[in-house]
Amino acid sequence: MAISIKSAREIELMREAGRILSEVHEKLGEEIRPGISTWDINALGEELIRSYGCVPNFLNYNGYPASICVSVNHEVVHGIPNKSRILQEGDIVSLDAGLIYKGFHSDAARTHPVGRISRDAAKLIEATRRSFFAGIRYAREGYRLFDISNAIDAYISRFGYGIVRDLVGHGIGTRLHEDPQIPNFRQWRRGPRLRPGMTLAIEPMINMGTWRVSWLDDDWTVVTQDGRLSAHYENTVLITAGEPEILTLGSK
Ligand code: MF3
Ligand code: CO
Repeated sequence: MAISIKSAREIELMREAGRILSEVHEKLGEEIRPGISTWDINALGEELIRSYGCVPNFLNYNGYPASICVSVNHEVVHGIPNKSRILQEGDIVSLDAGLIYKGFHSDAARTHPVGRISRDAAKLIEATRRSFFAGIRYAREGYRLFDISNAIDAYISRFGYGIVRDLVGHGIGTRLHEDPQIPNFRQWRRGPRLRPGMTLAIEPMINMGTWRVSWLDDDWTVVTQDGRLSAHYENTVLITAGEPEILTLGSK
């Protein structure tokens, strides 16, 4: 399948979808503290998304029962919000959120500390975020898709962390998941050429230990097989002839 190229008008709508999502993430991040439940985070996130006149795109996606994926500690992604899951000091929590604005999707994830966390946990969160920026140095015309994958892998490999292989980034636009798939680990070919107007959700998922993951019986929650921590960082990015435009980053 071909990778869609967005028109100037479509890019404008993607920008707005991204800008709104950056505000949602910023406000959600301010609410993260010991004592809040993952359910409350989801309720607040959904309310925020709707307050902008947008629709949460994760809700009911393949049957996913919430608007925000809330994944704690060894949960990698797709954690299901739960009233009895209360964040504790020292936890790390990954929030993955997305929305639809006038038919166009945005998708972004952040991992937050809950109160004071260990140095090792903080280092994992920071390395995961930095691996995204290492990757998008190649997210521009003149490079190829898997140059991004290889740069993320090269950045992470020095830490000895595990890069999740079972889940990958993706194209995004009028659908949440479009072609292409974007692995975060080493590829042996360079993949398709990047073209201005492509919009990509680039999302490294990085484990402190093994890259291997399992699915819980809820059929959604992805966890590390060794029970060690995992972090996630994702933005929706527009490919241009020059610097990529990070649509879900906002002004900061
Ligand atoms: N950001 C995730 C992704 O890129 C969230 C989708 S999972 C959902 O695939 F099912 F909850 F929507
Ligand atoms: Co995504």
